[in-house]
Amino acid sequence: MSGHARTSVRVGVEIAGSGACLPSRRLTNNDLVSMMDTSDEWIVQRTGIRERRVYDPKVEGTADLAIGAARAAIADAGMKPTDIDLVIVGTMTPDAPTPGVASVVAARIGAGHVGAMDVNGACCGFVFSLNVAHDMINSGGYKSIVVIGADTITRFCDFTTAGRNVAVLFGDAAAAIVLRVNQDPSIGLLAQAMHSDGEGARNLFVPGRELDFPPNVEYAPEKIHRIYMDGQAVFKFAVGTFPKLIEQTLEKAGLAADDVDHYVCHQSNYRILNSARERFGLSPEKLSVNIDRYGNTVGASVPLVFDELRKSGRIHPGQKVMFLAFGAGLTWGSSLWQL
Ligand code: ACO
Repeated sequence: MSGHARTSVRVGVEIAGSGACLPSRRLTNNDLVSMMDTSDEWIVQRTGIRERRVYDPKVEGTADLAIGAARAAIADAGMKPTDIDLVIVGTMTPDAPTPGVASVVAARIGAGHVGAMDVNGACCGFVFSLNVAHDMINSGGYKSIVVIGADTITRFCDFTTAGRNVAVLFGDAAAAIVLRVNQDPSIGLLAQAMHSDGEGARNLFVPGRELDFPPNVEYAPEKIHRIYMDGQAVFKFAVGTFPKLIEQTLEKAGLAADDVDHYVCHQSNYRILNSARERFGLSPEKLSVNIDRYGNTVGASVPLVFDELRKSGRIHPGQKVMFLAFGAGLTWGSSLWQL
């Protein structure tokens, strides 16, 4: 049942399961070489990416991937779709303006007439959704929420030489977790942060019409529905934001960097992740990288890393995990959990 009565008793929130769904089509750097003027060496050196998955718009979309991820996460939690009382999808690429991806997911997994909503925070969509979902359970309103990150961003990429600075970076995917009420109030969110800077969007945006072009970018009809990115400006923003966000979140929780077992980070560029590792002296075990296999999968990126860590037994109850993302909007945010 959706929308239980609120109570003043605070409860714990556990991550009960996780799952992922990837398109089957694999695109390696060498495949890209046949489509545009680029090289495996350039892509690997600048980004760490070796291959990515790309959806086939003729047979699948964001909702299909989100459904696959939701089903896998619910099964992993040992639950049934009818146990879920709210579906939240972090996405910037719904298949259509309406219905929202979450509504499609709720219906097609058989969750019934439960609440369903999409959160557009670009690469932060999942982390923002996680923070919202936690508090919905913690305040007594809901018992089990499936939180999904799902994007088919490659539809906004230009796979020719003109778009090579962007197209090589991205891939499509979905991944999900199930949050469930737990009677131990010490389990759940320890601290979180959510930020945005709409002015910074001039360096990273997808225009839908001529009016969307900021003064720094010249309008051209072929740029509509294509990602515009000033790579160096975004790189600077990310390298500067990551450490501040980690420090801010640790401070809120009264923890030191080493107290956190895993930093589950948005995968946008290996060099950005590595600079955070170096800044805080984190081992590769504490800050995992899978960008080499998937590229930047936008909202799916953070839960995809989490699912890999969980399935391989590296993440388990008792640990502290910080989820971190930054992206278009601009947006940046964190979610620090006691598992
Ligand atoms: N293959 C070969 N050459 C390329 C390619 C390519 N795919 N793309 C660009 N180049 C060329 C450029 O044309 C340029 O050539 P020039 O020197 O002759 O003009 C040269 O390579 C250097 O280009 P830069 O853009 O300066 O390269 P940089 O070292 O900055 O690396 C990159 C580019 C990888 C995009 C980097 O800036 C980056 O990672 N930025 C952050 C991107 C990011 O994280 N975006 C997404 C975050 S938000 C979200 O996830 C929605």
